[in-house]
Amino acid sequence: MITAAFTAYKLFKGLRVLFNQFVLGKLFGPALDLKKLGKWAGKNYSGQLKVFLFFILSPVVTGATDGIGLAYAKQLAERGIPIVLVSRSQEKLDKCAREIEQKYHVETKTIAFDFTKPYDSYGAVKKGLAGLEVGFLLNNVGIGVDPIRLTETPNCEKVLNDICHVNALSAAMMTYYVLPGMMQRRKGAIVNNASFSAYIPVPFMSVYPATKSFVDYFSRGMSMECASHGIFVQSLMPHFVQTKILNNNDPPSLFRPSPESFCRSAIGTVGRAERTFGYFPHHILSWLADMLGEKVVFEMLRKEFMDIRSKTLKKLGVAPQD
Ligand SMILES: NC(=O)c1ccc[n+]([C@@H]2O[C@H](COP(=O)([O-])OP(=O)(O)OC[C@H]3O[C@@H](n4cnc5c(N)ncnc54)[C@H](OP(=O)(O)O)[C@@H]3O)[C@@H](O)[C@H]2O)c1
Repeated sequence: MITAAFTAYKLFKGLRVLFNQFVLGKLFGPALDLKKLGKWAGKNYSGQLKVFLFFILSPVVTGATDGIGLAYAKQLAERGIPIVLVSRSQEKLDKCAREIEQKYHVETKTIAFDFTKPYDSYGAVKKGLAGLEVGFLLNNVGIGVDPIRLTETPNCEKVLNDICHVNALSAAMMTYYVLPGMMQRRKGAIVNNASFSAYIPVPFMSVYPATKSFVDYFSRGMSMECASHGIFVQSLMPHFVQTKILNNNDPPSLFRPSPESFCRSAIGTVGRAERTFGYFPHHILSWLADMLGEKVVFEMLRKEFMDIRSKTLKKLGVAPQD
């Protein structure tokens, strides 16, 4: 009797969480008014006022020239919010900024920065953010690694340096820059794009999930730390989204959505869930993994990735080391 009541309670709680994120999120969007996270924001402003507003309310999106970052930035812009785009190529930034300005009629600003760089190279970012009241930060930039052993990885030391800097250091550094303003204004939102691999590790590319675990733990700690200051922090943990990081040209599908479909769902979870897969079918995958249990899932992944590893080694022309 007690077990049945407890199970029913857990089921009810789970369904309520999903309803809040994916039904209410889809119907009503984020639970926070993203346009009010800065001092002020408006929809149909123009001329001088527009420029003024830009400098007091600017969401910042890292890794904003492609995939999830670009799709998220466009969906913020669709809501009439001016955006700061941060990525490494000025040419790509200019192209994306132009497209966003023309399509959504919002101001944009770009900061070209290569996140593989160490902490003492962040001058361009600091300069670019100076004077902006950032109400929303999407820490999205991320890179993957080849699914092979570390000892088989060409130029491995550089690969390790780069992935730790891009995936982990960037999120902490960007948060450090925007946090003082948010704390002072007692409002703001930070979304950190981790990965499903922060939920379940992946063999032969272990360093990637490890950096994503950093992002997930960092988010959860920051969420507890910042809630009392009115700052919402979210760990976003997508499973596969059909972007160039996957290195294939497959069309999007239900479980591998386009970045646009994924972001439309994920943005609705802002203010609703501190830790989320962001997209209902990815939630289903987490249930499946939970049901099968760690041991079974790990064995399935090991077999699958042994195969992927062999193909990658062949492609790279590297001899297997076992
Ligand atoms: N797609 C998935 O299946 C998936 C699943 C889980 C989590 N994620 C995470 O989601 C985030 C976005 O991934 P995505 O799939 O959208 O990847 P993507 O399509 O490859 O886009 C990555 C973005 O980051 C930029 N970037 C890469 N290296 C950079 C560097 N060193 N400095 C500055 N900018 C850099 C890229 O700029 P360029 O255009 O110049 O390359 C691009 O704008 C990542 O953190 C990823 O780990 C993705």
